[in-house]
Amino acid sequence: MNKILVTGATGNVGRHVVSQLAAAGLDVRAFARRPERVQAGVEAVRGDLDVPETLEPALKDVESVFLLWPGFSTGNAAEVVSAIAGQARRVVYLSAYVPGDEHGASHYGDIERLIRRSRLGWTFLRPGGFAANTLGWADQVRQGVVRWPYGEASRALIHERDIAAVAVHVLTSAGHNGAAYSLTGPGELTQAEQVRVIGEAVGREVRWEEQPPEEARERLLAAWGDETFVRSALTTWESFVTTPERATDTVERLLGRPALSFRQWAEEHAADFR
Ligand SMILES: NC(=O)c1ccc[n+]([C@@H]2O[C@H](COP(=O)([O-])OP(=O)(O)OC[C@H]3O[C@@H](n4cnc5c(N)ncnc54)[C@H](OP(=O)(O)O)[C@@H]3O)[C@@H](O)[C@H]2O)c1
Repeated sequence: MNKILVTGATGNVGRHVVSQLAAAGLDVRAFARRPERVQAGVEAVRGDLDVPETLEPALKDVESVFLLWPGFSTGNAAEVVSAIAGQARRVVYLSAYVPGDEHGASHYGDIERLIRRSRLGWTFLRPGGFAANTLGWADQVRQGVVRWPYGEASRALIHERDIAAVAVHVLTSAGHNGAAYSLTGPGELTQAEQVRVIGEAVGREVRWEEQPPEEARERLLAAWGDETFVRSALTTWESFVTTPERATDTVERLLGRPALSFRQWAEEHAADFR
């Protein structure tokens, strides 16, 4: 027992959850469709959340689960939550802060409800935008111009390592049952400012070019393939022009140190933009 199962173990957040738990000497098992990509020295099992039966062997002797839900719909999350509740005692779910979704109409709300109704102890992590989303601009940064909609949209992007650090803190200390934590970076930057900071970290001038939303819609649809998600992303970005995503102090309160800044994130990831 005391084993912690980490899903999404090769992703932006999960790989840091795995490495931080392993560095703390905790008993961690990584769950992934491609376990060969899990860091060396960590127990890794092959499984697919779209095939809930693959979760059952992975849950043997597991007490706590770090759960992320890939994709844009609730899908078979009910079976996954029920499999987890059948064997583990608690779950830390990587949910999201979705502006305007106070009633939980998104798939994040659906999954939170499934977990609340289960017998599991739970903590929900609700980050706003990930700093890692800006990696989607890498090709354009290399060309020196980022053409994207809503340059004045302002967000408090969070470093994925901070989300992981909060997850590890919650998984390894008491007092977080039934808590939902809104997580952001330490301050707000417009998208045009984010591009400037990336340029400074990379050591080249990168210009922002405003893209009409309709053109963005077509491009994003081709890339993401999910009309509802594209519409909701564009509406959300537009809303951040007039109502910026505000920084919370939750990371600092929980970890006892300031949240990592977007500049720190960009400097660490400069090689990804070169
Ligand atoms: N980006 C944002 O701004 C934002 C904001 C709030 C919340 N979120 C939420 O954060 C989560 C994404 O976190 P992330 O960026 O760390 O992930 P990520 O980098 O996109 O990686 C996804 C991870 O999930 C695994 N995975 C994908 N499909 C799977 C499946 N069917 N079964 C098992 N594992 C699967 C992948 O590994 P394999 O491919 O090897 O299996 C990988 O480890 C999503 O739930 C998203 O909704 C994102």
